[in-house]
Amino acid sequence: MRSKANALKEKGVKVINFAAGELSFDACPDMQAGAIDAVRHARNRYTPPIGLPALRERIAHAVSQRCGVAYTAAEVAVTAGAKQALYNAALVLLNPGDEVVVVRPYWETLPTQIRLAGAIPVFVDTQAQSYRLTCEAVEKALTPRTTMIVINTPNNPTGTLYEREQLLGIAQLAFDRQLWVVFDECYRQLVRQPHEHHNIVSLFPALKNQTVLVDSFSKSQAVTGWRVGYACAPAHVIAAMHNLQGHTTSNPSSLSQYAALNALNALNADASPFNRDVNAFLDRQLIAACTCLGFIDGITCAPPEGAFYLYIDVSRKLGRRYLGTPIRDVDHLAELLLSEAHIAVVPGSACGDPTSIRISYAVEREELIEGLTRFEQFMAELVAD
Ligand SMILES: Cc1ncc(COP(=O)(O)O)c(C=O)c1O
Repeated sequence: MRSKANALKEKGVKVINFAAGELSFDACPDMQAGAIDAVRHARNRYTPPIGLPALRERIAHAVSQRCGVAYTAAEVAVTAGAKQALYNAALVLLNPGDEVVVVRPYWETLPTQIRLAGAIPVFVDTQAQSYRLTCEAVEKALTPRTTMIVINTPNNPTGTLYEREQLLGIAQLAFDRQLWVVFDECYRQLVRQPHEHHNIVSLFPALKNQTVLVDSFSKSQAVTGWRVGYACAPAHVIAAMHNLQGHTTSNPSSLSQYAALNALNALNADASPFNRDVNAFLDRQLIAACTCLGFIDGITCAPPEGAFYLYIDVSRKLGRRYLGTPIRDVDHLAELLLSEAHIAVVPGSACGDPTSIRISYAVEREELIEGLTRFEQFMAELVAD
């Protein structure tokens, strides 16, 4: 969708891109200052493969504070975004044939990385439970070959946050069965009022030795292109990640690491002013988006509680005709939305779900309104047989 949208843009068409997974903000000022300072001080050499010792210390301190469970620098690996942290976890922890529980709809990278490690994703569908992950559903998916559960909250693509009680139940289950938990919380700082993000280790400290926490600066600091994130895991897992990363990518960009260090050093106990501004913006955007979508009959959204996605069930619109052409499936709908309404969306098929599309509301305000107006007009033109 991105390359098709870009091709249209090059032809001079005003495309509204709801498909991007990033904020429309400039990088967080503290990240900028850290990177500029690193350039000025010639921080241009290799760093240790899994990050600057000072940054690992600082991350360990920040994670210990927010989770209420002590982490040391030896339990932290700095990575090129959350994506590398997740890939490291898959490669160092999975053996061929292992089964891994993955929530569906999913962020496509998760099952792909599991398959790259030779393991098998086993999907747990959440749509029937309003996109909540329940302990019962996870339990049903377990077999003697299960070795890992991957949880992502706030969730991409649904924008839903997982509940405390359910996470506690899943933590107990993973603890009893000695399963690894990969807990991807890279949207944790992007939470809509009045919802709350829960960290699984914080809820169930005994799970620390079986958990890989994955977080990133990408989304919350508006630096998706800078590639810096981290994993927190038992020291022997981090040592294996060190070996792997040392022979694959080496260190994440030194400038991004200094930027992240500066941002963490500037942080008080509360959220940063940048983070408050971002969330206030996203709260306003969500209200505007829901108002626009409220005019469209026959669609429903997953609870939009975090990240910046609206996950819209359009299954009742599939099969209808647009200017005489029946809409075959969500891919076809996404293609028509791009070619006819000039809006780019992510089809749910990319998330293992043929019923829905994902849009990001983290775009400029005018784009949001214009794009959703085009969406509404397109939907109004669909005719049932
Ligand atoms: C759920 C989830 N995890 C991880 C990532 C990767 O983020 P990063 O840019 O930090 O690699 C993304 C990016 O879209 C994501 O949606």
